[in-house]
Amino acid sequence: MTENTKKRIMSGMRPTGKLHIGHYMGVLQNWIDLQNKYDCFFCIADWHALTTKFDQTQDFKQNIREVALDWLASGINSETATIYVQSLVPQTAELHLYFSMVTPQNWVERDPTLKDMVKIIRGDREEKDISKIVSYGLLGYPVLQTADILSFNAELVPVGKDQLAHLEFSRDLVRRFNYVYKTDYLKEPVPKLTEIPLLKGIDGQKMGKSFNNDIKISDSEEITTKKIMQAITDRSRIKKTDPGHPEECEVVCPYYDIFADKKTAEEAKEKCRKAEWGCADCKRNLAVILNDYFKAVRTKRSELEQNIDYVDSILEKGSQKAREEAEIVLKEVKNIIQMY
Ligand code: TRP
Repeated sequence: MTENTKKRIMSGMRPTGKLHIGHYMGVLQNWIDLQNKYDCFFCIADWHALTTKFDQTQDFKQNIREVALDWLASGINSETATIYVQSLVPQTAELHLYFSMVTPQNWVERDPTLKDMVKIIRGDREEKDISKIVSYGLLGYPVLQTADILSFNAELVPVGKDQLAHLEFSRDLVRRFNYVYKTDYLKEPVPKLTEIPLLKGIDGQKMGKSFNNDIKISDSEEITTKKIMQAITDRSRIKKTDPGHPEECEVVCPYYDIFADKKTAEEAKEKCRKAEWGCADCKRNLAVILNDYFKAVRTKRSELEQNIDYVDSILEKGSQKAREEAEIVLKEVKNIIQMY
């Protein structure tokens, strides 16, 4: 298939810093799988980050690079996929403006993720007055996301469950645009749900940077080992000589199932059941497996870190391509609206 006949995929991430192995297993593996079958656009959504971090921008440049480093080291191929920075594609902002004109006010007000985002913003600020926290820009979050996707008239959007409400919003908005302007030019984007093997944080909760329970793709072997040694295991096992219950082990055992080969995982479970291994032995062994698993990615990441100009040039090139493609859609949209 040539590039033109491939279906288009668009997805993005907010640059909040270094990515964790949950991102790697869930989102990035999926993108890597898709990048050869589809014409992919992957966006580092710094404007979306600005909706909640508008007054905390000192790390923005660095965070964008960290995301790019994690993507490239993990195997996102900048030759086949277009990797770009949202704020380097002004066409998306202009499209957002046109979309904003046909977005009913109550649609943005009822965005179910708004409450969570308000919580995030509130969390690290003195200001408790919600009317000052929710900006015009934040209200437009799903409108902007729709503009991201439609900048390329993409058909498929690989996302996690948490983004389904936004995708539904995008579909509604596209339908409304097409209805208002009597066109069928814009495609209703379809979510492509990923069966993400949910990776828990070392405390057994959902893995997340803000929960302080994550293992970064870029963590050193020492840090990884230290974190794994802190992971919770079978809570009912008090002494090393007590037989363990792998099925009740909330983090370490599932990690074996994900990162070790089947035989190794079964052996570990046997040693646990027979109390041949204490939890510390089991975790020490897991840390070796995990470090082995990420060795190549981490080596590649350190190489790229030494060559940040190269990473910047990939983002520049990707953004140039994104501008060109987005310009085609924007021209047509303006034409449809009958702008001057
Ligand atoms: N809102 C998404 C998130 O927080 C990131 C994102 C921005 C996105 N633009 C997008 C996802 C376009 C899919 C498509 O994860």
